Amino acid sequence: MSNPSHIAIIMDGNGRWAKARGLPRAAGHKAGLEALRDTIRAAGKMGIPFLTLFAFSSENWSRPRSEVSDLMGLLKLFIRRDLAELHRENVRVRIIGEREGLAKDIRGLLMEAETLTGRNTGLTLVIAFNYGSRNEITRAVQQLLADVSAGVITQADVTAEAISARLDTADIPDPDLIIRTSGEMRLSNFLLWQAAYSEFMFLPCYWPDFRSTHLAEAIETFHMRERRFGGVNQQEIAL
Ligand code: FPP
Repeated sequence: MSNPSHIAIIMDGNGRWAKARGLPRAAGHKAGLEALRDTIRAAGKMGIPFLTLFAFSSENWSRPRSEVSDLMGLLKLFIRRDLAELHRENVRVRIIGEREGLAKDIRGLLMEAETLTGRNTGLTLVIAFNYGSRNEITRAVQQLLADVSAGVITQADVTAEAISARLDTADIPDPDLIIRTSGEMRLSNFLLWQAAYSEFMFLPCYWPDFRSTHLAEAIETFHMRERRFGGVNQQEIAL
């Protein structure tokens, strides 16, 4: 099997990583940012075309205000410090999630990252920020309904492809592999539509401990999986 074209990661366990060391949760997120940088570099070197990272979910607003503010601060730090390097490395940045509700300076930075790197041809780095899959699907359905009402399309045009084309991930292939760290085994409202045929890997390590070796091992395991996309494999047909 060929390498995954798209790997998506739920970066979980920053808080527990910090707690295990007697550190504040903010220290876990800071260490998580280092793992994120490492992973982007590794994915680029491995020639992975698309990497999606779940950085802030639409449900994360329910965390204490100081923690939300720490996460916003880390996003700003990441874009301000790393954007030039990402651009040099030919990385194209895409953001998925709702922009509304984000502070103006953050919206500006997200737009700057997408605009500056929009024509790059290397790794596409998709940052899921203020992202929730149900919200994304709801917005897509609302757009479709508006198009039907306006007579731009008919009810018969409401196909799976039409829905996919209205998601934030339009033009991004579905993830072949979804990795979640920290031992939790759930999707937490991440890429629900796009994950229909994804392979899942749940790793016990906390996100700040995730290194390129984990990524390489996950890809190796992916090669051993048999993907049938609802069909049967060739050997079974021969029997
Ligand atoms: C989950 O750990 C992680 C997050 C909610 C945020 C992910 C953020 C980073 C990796 C670093 C920041 C990077 C950017 C670009 C914002 P958790 O806090 O849920 O951990 P826990 O389940 O152990 O408490």
